[in-house]
Amino acid sequence: MQPLIHKYIPKTTKELIGQDDVVIQLRNFIVNFSKEKKNSALIYGSSGTGKTSCIYAIANELGFEVVEVNASEFRNAEQINLKVGNAIKQRSLFAKGKVILVDEIDGLSGHEDRGGIQAITKLIEDSAFPIILTATNPFDNKFSSLRSKSNIIEFKQLDYLSIFKILKRICEHEKIKYEEDILKALSRRAGGDARAAINDLQALAQDKKELTKESLEELADRNKTDNIMTALNKIFKTTDLKIAISAFDNVGEDLDEQLLWIDENLPKEYTKPEDLAKAYEMLSKADVFNRRIRRWQHYRFLVYINALITAGIASAKKEKYRQLVAYKPTGRILKLWWANQRLAKKKDIAGKIASKTHSSKKEILKSTMPYLPIIFRNKEMRNNVINYLDLNEEEVEWLKNKAK
Ligand SMILES: Nc1ncnc2c1ncn2[C@@H]1O[C@H](COP(=O)(O)OP(=O)(O)O)[C@@H](O)[C@H]1O
Ligand SMILES: [Mg+2]
Repeated sequence: MQPLIHKYIPKTTKELIGQDDVVIQLRNFIVNFSKEKKNSALIYGSSGTGKTSCIYAIANELGFEVVEVNASEFRNAEQINLKVGNAIKQRSLFAKGKVILVDEIDGLSGHEDRGGIQAITKLIEDSAFPIILTATNPFDNKFSSLRSKSNIIEFKQLDYLSIFKILKRICEHEKIKYEEDILKALSRRAGGDARAAINDLQALAQDKKELTKESLEELADRNKTDNIMTALNKIFKTTDLKIAISAFDNVGEDLDEQLLWIDENLPKEYTKPEDLAKAYEMLSKADVFNRRIRRWQHYRFLVYINALITAGIASAKKEKYRQLVAYKPTGRILKLWWANQRLAKKKDIAGKIASKTHSSKKEILKSTMPYLPIIFRNKEMRNNVINYLDLNEEEVEWLKNKAK
């Protein structure tokens, strides 16, 4: 099955969505090359914004040839001369126009590749044709010489409506059925990366020729799981506390879920008893803080909890375990237990209302409970309710959370 990102490479600049300004800049640079002060353009921006496709689309429209050179080839001076040496030198009157593309220079590292970066700089100085470099992040010091020799052009992240437009076009060509809302949700999730969005669409809809709400939810779950697995891997495998402490930074899961995940997988990774004991000590302390937050809203404890379950657990082992462990989602039983805990509070409160109002608990759960959190948003009414029903701390806490 052909990847849709290949099938739908924009062939003309009209098909390139949301980058009109930069298309004009880049085309001007190529067309007016002989009058330009600088021989190269450095275009940068995050992945999947159309940097590479844009160059090919413009060249295609101008009838130019693209000579693409891999950045790593610059490590070898001879090889690079063979490939572009002649291409850059003569510029005959009748030959086809050319642009030289060095895609993704980020891979060149500062010290090892000093020669490579120099070779590109030299190429820029000597070239009779426009050179185009692309990068995700060109602001590293090692690229300063390349920056000063280039016109810098930024590719902005695509907004979700641009991505929506791209996906919609593909759905129509591929005869994929979709609801506009769901396709929009998919577009938002991609975070400005058209490549990721198209790949998601392909994974979810190509077989069934339909994009459903369910498949979107499936994808959300899968990504969440991927993220938390990466976080666990960082914590369990590293002894560098700086790496460990930021493990959960980009994980959307709430704290309870994080604790459950660690609890579930810790014994599989830490097989030495001393390590495991120390690690559980950290986890149990985190749990104590977690309860205090619930009870007293001491949210500053979150910082300690995070330190305990990341750096704390990472440092509990004497040395890294080499074996590979497949981390598992938290057990269903544990999850049910949590869900029940939460439900139990709700039932307790409903019970109190039922006995005050002489009605059934079941009835109150249905008719009154949904509105109670809303009532709780008003301070005066809240206090009245607390007094009237004689709610305890944990029940108040539960309702406050619901009211947020
Ligand atoms: N602005 C855009 N308009 C339409 N499609 C795009 C755009 N940007 C990216 N794409 C899609 O994503 C794929 C990857 O784009 P590419 O140009 O390789 O991105 P980059 O080089 O910025 O990582 C393309 O094949 C195309 O299908
Ligand atoms: Mg690219």
